[in-house]
Amino acid sequence: MPNPKMFDLSGKVAVVTGGNGGIGRGIALGLAEAGASVAIVARNQERNEAVLAELKKIGVPAMATRLDVSNRKLLKPALDDIERKLGPIDILVNNAAFAVLKGLLDHTEEDWDSVIETDLTACFLLSKYAAQSMIPRKCGKIINVASIGGFKGTPIYPSYGVSKGGLLQLTRCLAIELAPHNIQVNSLAPGWTTTDMTDWIRNDPNYAAIKDEMITRTPAGRFAEPAEMSGAAVFLASQASNFVTGADILVDGGFFIR
Ligand SMILES: NC(=O)c1ccc[n+]([C@@H]2O[C@H](COP(=O)([O-])OP(=O)(O)OC[C@H]3O[C@@H](n4cnc5c(N)ncnc54)[C@H](OP(=O)(O)O)[C@@H]3O)[C@@H](O)[C@H]2O)c1
Repeated sequence: MPNPKMFDLSGKVAVVTGGNGGIGRGIALGLAEAGASVAIVARNQERNEAVLAELKKIGVPAMATRLDVSNRKLLKPALDDIERKLGPIDILVNNAAFAVLKGLLDHTEEDWDSVIETDLTACFLLSKYAAQSMIPRKCGKIINVASIGGFKGTPIYPSYGVSKGGLLQLTRCLAIELAPHNIQVNSLAPGWTTTDMTDWIRNDPNYAAIKDEMITRTPAGRFAEPAEMSGAAVFLASQASNFVTGADILVDGGFFIR
């Protein structure tokens, strides 16, 4: 029988990018409930403060770093600062991302570059810096928040789909390279979830047909709640997943299998 202690994250330090809202908030709170100290990293200071207050209410050491993850030069100093304040990083959750809802002909070079920078390059760089800290300690967990959009083609957001496909492949590459250091690298692919990112499909009548198709295709018949991503994240952050690496956990209500 699984022992609940297998999922205990007491004494662990976690960083969650995009932790001030949506799925990142759900994951940050879930990791904190499991006992981890949590640093959230995002740009909006008001939302950072709100989630920081929730983390502190749970009773774990916590902090919020105001940072744009597309600013490459600031990433290493930000992780160094978190390590000074909370301790060495054990768990990195690469969750911050955004999408530009434009097809190929409308997608500008700037759209493409900004999505790839935030959704993929930042994950690569943060993983590198976190791994530099984890390797000497011979343990660590990197969790990349991917998407079903990384597996399937879509005409709506080419740069986002490519960034998530790249993130799935980055997961596999880093999993192999870091396995000898006892660092597990996995991804978690949410299905459609009720967050700001999906406001358009949930509320814009222009996308009603896509929404209906999505609900019909999902055996669970609904959108996920952000908190429903936290169980898989706690599993991937805990010793319960020590022999799981390079894997993707679909948390999609069965969308993918239809
Ligand atoms: N919602 C879904 O249905 C769904 C489905 C599949 C995958 N996902 C993935 O789940 C993850 C979270 O998405 P979500 O739905 O929770 O979206 P969301 O509600 O829009 O949250 C995005 C988060 O990322 C942060 N962020 C965005 N750009 C950033 C930047 N340049 N620097 C730092 N932080 C940044 C935002 O905070 P600030 O704006 O304050 O910076 C926010 O905390 C993403 O990786 C997304 O691709 C979502």
